[in-house]
Amino acid sequence: MRVILSQVKLFDLPKIMDDRGNLTFLEEYEHVPFEIKRVYFIYDVPGGESRGGHAYKELEEVFIAISGSFDLNLDDGNEQMKISLNRSYHAVYVPKGLWRKLDNFSTNSLCLVLASTAYNEADYIRDYTKFLKFVNCEQKN
Ligand code: TYD
Repeated sequence: MRVILSQVKLFDLPKIMDDRGNLTFLEEYEHVPFEIKRVYFIYDVPGGESRGGHAYKELEEVFIAISGSFDLNLDDGNEQMKISLNRSYHAVYVPKGLWRKLDNFSTNSLCLVLASTAYNEADYIRDYTKFLKFVNCEQKN
């Protein structure tokens, strides 16, 4: 099945406001549309650096800017979109098969990623030309 950018979903997580501070939570299937098999986070990113620059054949992810801000750049091989994340309760669901790059990290930004599979290097497409071939093959199916 062809993955297109309209399958990306931006959503708000619950935000419990309190004089003592705000609290946000998430639950598997309730807020995240897959079983969470892995959590990783990206932090201490030097100014001007980017992360990602690849696609996954199977992995689905949810991105949250727990602290600070960054841009999530997505590409389905046909169209591109940029999502700026800068609130702890904003989340983005990214389906499999999209090229992604993270950049424009603010100082002290903390990017939390919820992942649908364990780490598997074989699931990565790290070459953009190969990615274009992959999505064009998928389109024909
Ligand atoms: P990579 O996914 O390429 O980082 P990014 O996309 O953020 O630039 O991963 C960088 C390194 O970390 C690579 O050697 C694989 C390793 N890694 C793991 O071992 N487990 C993980 O869950 C992740 C995300 C990366």
